Amino acid sequence: MKSYEKFPLLPISSGSGVWLYDYDGRKYLDTVSSWWVNLFGHCNPRINTALVKQLEMLEHVMLAGFTHEPVVQLSERLKSLAPEGMGHCFYASDGASATEISLKMSAHYWLNCGKPGKAEFISLENSYHGETLGALSVTDVALFRSAYGALIRHQATVPCPDWRNASAGESAEAFALRCADALERHLQQNHSQLAALIIEPLVQGAAGMAMYHPIYLRRARELCTEYSVHLIADEIAVGMGRTGTMFACQQAPTTRDTGLDSSLGIKQGITPDFLLLSKGITGGYLPLSVVMTTDEIYQSFYGDEPARGFLHSHSYTGNPLACRAALATLDIFEQDRVLKSNHEKAAFLNKITQPLQAHSSVRNWRNTGMIWAFEVDSRHSDFPQRCFAIALEKELLLRPIGNTVYFMPPYVISTDEMTLMVERLLEVIELLGK
Ligand SMILES: Cc1ncc(COP(=O)(O)O)c(C=O)c1O
Repeated sequence: MKSYEKFPLLPISSGSGVWLYDYDGRKYLDTVSSWWVNLFGHCNPRINTALVKQLEMLEHVMLAGFTHEPVVQLSERLKSLAPEGMGHCFYASDGASATEISLKMSAHYWLNCGKPGKAEFISLENSYHGETLGALSVTDVALFRSAYGALIRHQATVPCPDWRNASAGESAEAFALRCADALERHLQQNHSQLAALIIEPLVQGAAGMAMYHPIYLRRARELCTEYSVHLIADEIAVGMGRTGTMFACQQAPTTRDTGLDSSLGIKQGITPDFLLLSKGITGGYLPLSVVMTTDEIYQSFYGDEPARGFLHSHSYTGNPLACRAALATLDIFEQDRVLKSNHEKAAFLNKITQPLQAHSSVRNWRNTGMIWAFEVDSRHSDFPQRCFAIALEKELLLRPIGNTVYFMPPYVISTDEMTLMVERLLEVIELLGK
């Protein structure tokens, strides 16, 4: 709150496409999709229309003993899009709740299978899975955890395949395999107590857009299967097309040896035991999250004894308006062939960012799908605040994580807007060096 005395909050009055407008008529290009949630622009007319129609039919009904059309349709459509075998959906209202649900469901599954000892979890170093207590226990960001350490159950972490930490001369793939070997050693020693491994597939967002080779996903799947440990794919930030495929898990190469054959466009993918979605699922309109899982896990809860059933309720679970926004979002994906057009936009952005990539204060340039990130060498300890303020002057909403600057605009960004964003970004980086 104190920092707002120097730099007051910016009241926003309206939004349209990639732009946000304040009350003084100034506008800001939302390069971070409002904390990674917005996919098809602010006040998208198609999502608005679908919501208005839904509003006139049903705003909400509890999802216990009742159901409604949007939640049924959404479950069916997610099933048809998700990796093979993800046939069941459990709804909540935000990302952290989805993490909590998957942790509880995983441990409860093992309990139902007569293995109550399997109740611990592992996550990757620098992981972020939300900030409720269970989610914090698998979140490895000191800033978010330290004050609440006494409340959190300690869980182990394993090395993260973030290629920035590879040894000199070591490829991203070789490093990912080395990290997978460390995972294997941990699983060998601890599998009897482990319920699940939770990961952010391909990109660790809050760690500063740390990116890693998809071979890690393949090895994580193989090892979790071998050691009877669930694999939770937290695609809250990276799902819904952000990494170039609908879900990041779909980019895992077929086998350890073949690698990702991008020339053939082969994307075999893996099926996790739990797939977590939120953020972009409603196009950035309304809070909604879903935990998708397999028939095998579903069946372990099926029976007459109440204790066997999975208990986790939220008042707004499966809210019809949120589900309708998600359905309208999926319609746009289909009708506008969004994954293909994103591929073209990403190629264009990679071309026009050449001067930025070559800038003397830019390090570790990286891109996965519709996410770009780099570190900026800076002598200023208040780099994130300075960068945010200078960017606003240039009509950009940028929110660096430490010295990492990233952009991941809404998918509706036009060629002119991409050009403008990159020109202004270069100006911001120039000014930051002064
Ligand atoms: C990978 C990941 N998991 C979980 C969460 C938590 O989601 P929410 O902020 O909706 O609780 C986030 C939020 O940034 C995230 O990036």
